[in-house]
Amino acid sequence: MKNGKAVISVLVSGGGTNLQALIDAQKSGIIKNGVISLVISNVEGAYALMRAKNNGIDTAVITKKSCANQSEFEGKIIAELEKAGTDIIVLAGFMSILSENFTSRYANRILNVHPSLIPSFCGKGFYGLKVHEEALKYGVKVTGATVHFVNEIPDGGEIIMQKAVAVKEGDTPEKLQKRVMKQAEWKILPLSVEKVCKQLTKQC
Ligand code: GAR
Repeated sequence: MKNGKAVISVLVSGGGTNLQALIDAQKSGIIKNGVISLVISNVEGAYALMRAKNNGIDTAVITKKSCANQSEFEGKIIAELEKAGTDIIVLAGFMSILSENFTSRYANRILNVHPSLIPSFCGKGFYGLKVHEEALKYGVKVTGATVHFVNEIPDGGEIIMQKAVAVKEGDTPEKLQKRVMKQAEWKILPLSVEKVCKQLTKQC
């Protein structure tokens, strides 16, 4: 905890629009029981790192190729998280699956945003644009986003929030991705983070 607020660390791999939504929510007061303190990327040069730097948030880069195995990779991430005094971890477009060793260490403290209504189009292999490609291929008329706790089953942890989004005639995966982000992810991720931070600060 930092000044009575939960310390939030965010794990990213890409553009970081969900990270941006969290930063904006902290600025506007939607997130008031937590403070974004660290951003860790597993991809060098990810634009999310720039967003963090532009907002004075500490960053770290830990790539898999710099580590001998998964255990070393996760060990380095844990070291950074502990150094920052992390209370909650947010996976915001983090495209690497974490082992049970990692997830059990932070039970009910890791949140993930997934771009579909779980249990549809989720689990191993369903990430990023691929999720929307599959939703369009299946022909669903409603999709959306889910924020859930992370456990050892990919996209299998307890659901915190969901929001539905309409699929429209003529949608491409890119168009649908953008609509799901705008109408669902960027809204329910900050709200879920605040909900969990609020619960944590009450427990202390
Ligand atoms: C988001 O749509 C997020 O839901 C998805 O990747 C995108 C990252 O965008 N995550 C997954 O598919 C995880 N299974 P961002 O870097 O702009 O936040």
